[in-house]
Amino acid sequence: MYKIPANPFFPLRKLIYMPECHSTNVIAEQMVKQNSLPEGSVVLAGYQSAGKGQRGNVWLAGAGLNLTFSLFVKPVWLKASEQMYLTKAFSLGVTDWLQRLTGMSVLIKWPNDILVNNKKICGMLIENQLKNNYIAATIAGIGVNINQREFPFVQVTSLAAETDTVYDLAECFFNLMLHIDARYTLLQNKQFSKLQDDYLNNLLGLGDELIFGEGEQQFPGTVLGVDDLGRLEVRTPWGIRFYETKEIPIQWPLK
Ligand code: BTN
Repeated sequence: MYKIPANPFFPLRKLIYMPECHSTNVIAEQMVKQNSLPEGSVVLAGYQSAGKGQRGNVWLAGAGLNLTFSLFVKPVWLKASEQMYLTKAFSLGVTDWLQRLTGMSVLIKWPNDILVNNKKICGMLIENQLKNNYIAATIAGIGVNINQREFPFVQVTSLAAETDTVYDLAECFFNLMLHIDARYTLLQNKQFSKLQDDYLNNLLGLGDELIFGEGEQQFPGTVLGVDDLGRLEVRTPWGIRFYETKEIPIQWPLK
């Protein structure tokens, strides 16, 4: 069990450590349904046997080597139309921490993949429950590759692989949570333009051309920005288009 001291943002944080489970997002969801997870709680796994990724993918992370956890919050003050700001806040929390720890350039691949040296080091699965046009509950599932050195895909990396250092997982977790809390507090204080500016400053490919789409439907596009709804603004061969988060993937490998 990791010891998390009280902090001003989540004084009641409860940490549930599971040496092994299928998916921390699923465990957190079940506990929320049973009303047994206080706001600010984190479900942290040593190993997930069925980690959930975006777009129905699995999230593979070696046992005891990485951080895989789900944070439960109730941003009931945030409009459903502003939910992309949760993505921005959590992405920036991870980015801030990695930048401070390594001094390396860390980029956000829209909407919420975190990259170091053009490789993915962190993925997020943010699941929001809406009620009357507001957000009732959020489970932010975050997977950060820390000490794993071998991966089934070339476009994936870890802290250890990038810096040739072995990290203390508990210390990483504690410091990462502090950075996430700081960004979440900015969101609570409705500092939307600060979050937007910082997100764009760290966004992969802003002003550059990337390849979008899948299979034969690929096309080049220049990233122009991300709007308040979280849509990616792209200059395509057909003019300027706004894409929803699940609508259009950015292709690997990145240039
Ligand atoms: C992605 O990039 O595809 C999203 C990956 C999200 C992985 C994390 S690990 C902790 C949490 N529990 C899950 O089952 N998934 C998320």
